[in-house]
Amino acid sequence: MLDKLLYIETFGCQMNVNDSERIVTMLSDLGYAPTNDPSAADMILLNTCTVRGGAEEKVYKRLANLRIYKRDGKSQIIGVGGCVAQQEGEELLKKFPYLDLVFGTHNLHLLPDMVNGALRGERRSETTFIDNDMRLDLFPTIKGESRLSRFVTVMQGCDNFCSYCIVPYVRGREISRRSKDILSEVSQLADEGVREVVLLGQNVNSYGLKTENEPAFAELIRLVSEISGIDRIRFTTSHPKDMSDALIACFGDIPKLCGQIHLPAQSGSDAVLKLMKRGYNRDSYLDKVRRLKSVRPDIAVTGDIIVGFPGESEADFEQTLTLLEEVRYIDLFSFVYSARPGTSAAELEEYLTRAQKIARLDRLMELQKRITREISQTYIGTLQKVLVEGEGKRPAQLSGKADNGRIVNFAGDSNLIGSFADVRIIQAYPNSFLGESLK
Ligand code: SAH
Ligand code: SF4
Ligand code: F3S
Repeated sequence: MLDKLLYIETFGCQMNVNDSERIVTMLSDLGYAPTNDPSAADMILLNTCTVRGGAEEKVYKRLANLRIYKRDGKSQIIGVGGCVAQQEGEELLKKFPYLDLVFGTHNLHLLPDMVNGALRGERRSETTFIDNDMRLDLFPTIKGESRLSRFVTVMQGCDNFCSYCIVPYVRGREISRRSKDILSEVSQLADEGVREVVLLGQNVNSYGLKTENEPAFAELIRLVSEISGIDRIRFTTSHPKDMSDALIACFGDIPKLCGQIHLPAQSGSDAVLKLMKRGYNRDSYLDKVRRLKSVRPDIAVTGDIIVGFPGESEADFEQTLTLLEEVRYIDLFSFVYSARPGTSAAELEEYLTRAQKIARLDRLMELQKRITREISQTYIGTLQKVLVEGEGKRPAQLSGKADNGRIVNFAGDSNLIGSFADVRIIQAYPNSFLGESLK
């Protein structure tokens, strides 16, 4: 019986969103039902992110606020999981006396036991990495609400150690999930009515490379594409250095693989890319984008850029601006560099002021806004196949995604939900299209 309430707040990336879904599923076995109201909750959990200093500060502010929910005499449990938990561990219990639980990124499975302990008044921190085969059995299989599109984890962790990035330290070593587990999860999702899967990992295209008897990522996509009922496949995130010829070819000959790729460049300058330890240069990055576009001319490319990396000169920054012009991303996620504890770039001297970094970010975003607008305009009048996922924000409007990942809203009957609709695009907004149904 679900007689207690769980409030969970999730920060950071899709890995955390997935982990939170798994936590909700696990804790329902202990009688917790989800709530959106922290003041009504018997347990409050924060699933945290520390990828930039700002993300970490947000968690501390929220944690400080949570004190008000700890009611005397009641057994309300407050816990912190995710990447800040992994980074700080027991320190968090010391800093926040009203905190009961700290669980790291490899320790979700311990949560039921930790919660039972907390109900008896125990305070506990668990942040040990599991870097052996046992981890293969701990991949999240999510029994979430039924949806048309679902994420499926194919690998976890990262061994790339880009010089600025804390992820390898808080998510641990890279490990590829067994392909048979992935395929059986996808088949099960298909049976539940899921039509689209997004294969998920920090660096999906290195899937299987370090594991014997497992296919490489391109082969995995082919195997997933053979599962009937699944009509669309996407994946995220790719590292440009691991974008193999075989994977590029998939975009040409697997119709179920959607024409969308998130391929973070981080910088357009060879000098900066070297300092970032990214393992590719501007030319090889651009070459991969060109080859992707040659096999799938309508592919929508998105990316990540860091501005103000230590040592980034004005000329380096301009190289990033011209990279944007050459790639022509449909969308870009751009960040001001933030030094992270324990990373090698944190040792580098920074010369730019915060204001100078922000000024660069503004210039970059201004340019991207124009590119996004120009690309979006080219879709006006085109016909898009939309997987209708639900009601739109406006009355009598439906919402879904085009093959390239863009959200398309259009007027239509709700019995179209769950099917594909042919939609003509009539207007382009910064993050979505407005269309009209041809059915
Ligand atoms: N695995 C993914 C990215 C994970 S982090 C990949 O390799 O692409 C998401 C993004 O946050 C990164 O692509 C990068 O652009 C940004 N990021 C990571 N560390 C950062 C830092 N220290 N400062 C600013 N941005 C950072
Ligand atoms: Fe971080 Fe680089 Fe790994 Fe991405 S590939 S998670 S940026 S270390
Ligand atoms: Fe943040 Fe951890 Fe994801 S640091 S970006 S939640 S892997």
